[in-house]
Amino acid sequence: MTEAVAQNRLDVAAVRAQFPALHQLVNGRPLVYLDNAATTQKPASVLRALTAYYEQDNANIHRGIHTLAERATRSFEATRLTVRDFLNAPSETEIIFTRGVTESINLVASSWGRSQLQPGDEILISGLEHHSNIVPWQLIASEKGAVIKVIPVLNDGSLDMASYETLLSPRTRMVAFNHASNALGTINPAKALIDLAHRAGALVLVDGAQAASHLKVDVQDLGCDFYCISSHKLYGPTGVGVLFGKRHLLDQMPPYQGGGEMIREVSFNGTTFNDPPYKFEAGTPNIADVVAFKEALDFLKNLSDFNFRSHEQNLLDTFCREVSANKRVRLVGTSADKVSVQSFVIDRVHHFDAGQMLDARGIAVRTGHHCAQPLMDRFELEGTIRASFAVYNTVEEVHELVQGINWITKFVP
Ligand code: ALA
Repeated sequence: MTEAVAQNRLDVAAVRAQFPALHQLVNGRPLVYLDNAATTQKPASVLRALTAYYEQDNANIHRGIHTLAERATRSFEATRLTVRDFLNAPSETEIIFTRGVTESINLVASSWGRSQLQPGDEILISGLEHHSNIVPWQLIASEKGAVIKVIPVLNDGSLDMASYETLLSPRTRMVAFNHASNALGTINPAKALIDLAHRAGALVLVDGAQAASHLKVDVQDLGCDFYCISSHKLYGPTGVGVLFGKRHLLDQMPPYQGGGEMIREVSFNGTTFNDPPYKFEAGTPNIADVVAFKEALDFLKNLSDFNFRSHEQNLLDTFCREVSANKRVRLVGTSADKVSVQSFVIDRVHHFDAGQMLDARGIAVRTGHHCAQPLMDRFELEGTIRASFAVYNTVEEVHELVQGINWITKFVP
């Protein structure tokens, strides 16, 4: 055991060694990948699982009785058990595989919303939301005559909790918010938001897309009714997401899509439906990527002995401290409790130009409105530059980013 491991400090070099994509030159420079809020890179174990699945086990699941079908089904269901443990869900029947957080939210908005909402009911969302936690609610609200209300955002990028309390009412049926903001990194006080919503009689959906790779998520401790995650932001493959839903709610909700696997019996006179989670998993799912997602969750589980949250926090703090010396940089999103995501703007430099200039130095950041246009409007911005740090990033990479920003401001007077 190395000294670093003995002290429970993260051996970042050993973590980086597991990620093939990090070891390449981009525009002649070593890649500095700081777009992790958009998607993380994948460890070799995930890539190997994908190949192994297709080379050895490829078969359709839940349908065949032959050996490959059984192997594929076992691997697919093993991921469901791992997700259950990852979220500390009471039962694997509460774990539904989807294409991602977007589909998970659409499933709830469509199935729960269509069956439960009445004209005049209110859906309360936060001003920090990604479009995927706005638009599905708008669609169902306009269909059902429900009303969307928005929790305001304070200047530091945190939610206005006093306003939240006044917005809750007996008409509030659903409160939907992100556990952590993709654009600003704000960690929302999920438990307090959930408790207050429940006291008002509302259900709660939490978009955990940006939180689950940084924070320990325990759906029983949170008490939320629905929690959504995406594999690709958790070091796993794209095209896989999860909806956790409390079983009694899933039992009441009608199917989201019709097709194979979600049925118990079909006749031309009518159809009876399977139990959750299968009721919500119509058609052949994304088997290979679900199977490989388990490896990503195991990767994270292996890291949980190390203080990786403090490593990520150190990257964020180092960046904010060093970049603040450049007076043309303004940080956007400065609340006390944040995941390692930082938005900023540079005076007299358009965010797209900054993104391209950083890319010329091999540095990948995201630029634009981050699929959160109402939040950008709140800050009177068209967009920002966003650096998002993952467990495999280093302090040296933070220095590279700050040097890149200082080079831009020297280059563009
Ligand atoms: N939601 C992803 C992001 O914030 C794509 O970049």
